[in-house]
Amino acid sequence: MTAPPREQWGTRAGFLLAAIGSAVGLGNIWRFPYIAYENGGGAFLLPYLIALLSAGIPLLIFEYTIGHKFRGSPPLALRRLSRPTEAIGWWQVAICFVIAVYYAVIIAWAIRYVGFSVDQQWGADAETFFSNDFLHVAEQPGFAAPFVPGVLWPLIAVWVVTLVVLALGVRKGIEIANKVFIPLLVVLFLVLVVRALFLPGAATGLDAFFSPDWSSITDGKVWVAAYGQIFFSLSVGFGIMITYASYLRRKADLGGSALVAGFANSSFEILAGIGVFATLGFMAHQTGVAVSEAATAGPGLAFVAFPTIISELSSGAAWFGILFFTCLVLAGLSSLISIVQVIIASVQDRTGMARVPAVLIVGGLTAIVSIGLFPTRNGLYLLDVADHFINQYGIVLAGFVAVVVVAWVLRKLGMLQEHNDTVANFKVGKVWLVLLGVVTPLVLVWMMIDSLRQEFAETYGGYTTGYVLAAGWGVAGAAILFGVIMALLPWHPPALPDDEDGAAPAQSTEEVKS
Ligand code: ALA
Repeated sequence: MTAPPREQWGTRAGFLLAAIGSAVGLGNIWRFPYIAYENGGGAFLLPYLIALLSAGIPLLIFEYTIGHKFRGSPPLALRRLSRPTEAIGWWQVAICFVIAVYYAVIIAWAIRYVGFSVDQQWGADAETFFSNDFLHVAEQPGFAAPFVPGVLWPLIAVWVVTLVVLALGVRKGIEIANKVFIPLLVVLFLVLVVRALFLPGAATGLDAFFSPDWSSITDGKVWVAAYGQIFFSLSVGFGIMITYASYLRRKADLGGSALVAGFANSSFEILAGIGVFATLGFMAHQTGVAVSEAATAGPGLAFVAFPTIISELSSGAAWFGILFFTCLVLAGLSSLISIVQVIIASVQDRTGMARVPAVLIVGGLTAIVSIGLFPTRNGLYLLDVADHFINQYGIVLAGFVAVVVVAWVLRKLGMLQEHNDTVANFKVGKVWLVLLGVVTPLVLVWMMIDSLRQEFAETYGGYTTGYVLAAGWGVAGAAILFGVIMALLPWHPPALPDDEDGAAPAQSTEEVKS
């Protein structure tokens, strides 16, 4: 079977913006500042940078090279690499599905908070407002619960925007959306950070953030946190970068693009740390609450601490809130688009379905699950558990398995290195083989053991074992099972296309020859 011509990015900048848009997400704004602060403040930047250089960028290049050489979404590209690895590809598709269904909900909350910011509707107690008045959180975690209309409508809007962008295709949809969202996000975020730096008390916050606790460097947990942050934040292990790189032209600077995307993402992350801690310093100044108490991650930071702070501003409160929540919406949307694209491209590659029906059927199904499960009184609990387990035993584990299988079982890392060094300006050489083949798997296995140890020491988040088994382990395990079952179903992948713009055609593997 011959494949129809694959879609392509219009420009290299378009691809880079999309890759940066995928990386810069909710994780940069609400996860990084807290993780850095908890793990040694200024001293955390050292393990963080080492994690970026020793595993983050090498893994980005790994995914770019697979997608580019084998021109497919994760199941197709990995199958072309070697038949059994198709299972890893479908596993990544399942991971993307789980992340997409809850990630969209956080964007929906942020949309509502843009509106709430206008007159600071959360009033004097932002925490009670968030849990009781806005989310109507059920007293006990469960599965079925009444809908919360205030979340349902913005969530539908998030899905409509995401699916429309995806239906327009790689060049006219994803590329244009990122060309608008990312520059806008950077400008708005810079305005926000500069404003935060001029707040009284900002220096106290920055002091807390950057004061290095060098003793933390010898703590294994800090290194695990640094590598974990890099993986989530760079969007490696989801299969997104395999998918995005499959739309690159034959001659593409894979290694160079990975460097640009990696450093752009980390720069945004550090900027977010500065903005968030300057703001927390202001809170400490106004209310006497220590920066250490105000610093939290996730919903607590964005939807409780920030609203509280916004209410303290004597002037421009509404604008500060509108800017902050609009930034969350923009950063979240560009990441969500990339996550859902993996699912759609994989189904297209598997079935030969055209883009619009694939978006309607597969994207629509994903949206229905998201809309059916999360804008309910249980949404916050489900999101919390699913997020924790799919990150630890989805993204990180899939990343580990992919690297170990390709490097040590199939011994194809050398072939990928040659591919990069043939098409890219930035040559990765043998250093990359050592980093990816040795350093990355060792770190990942260490991370896995450490988090499993914690999991068995105490049940995650104080939930009941049954709940964690169903919403956490069950979901992460089902993703693996899905991968294996899909890979066992027989099909005939289309042959690897010849080159389309003059460079050498990709070398086929045993799959294509057979
Ligand atoms: N990389 C994306 C984020 O940081 C998923 O949120």
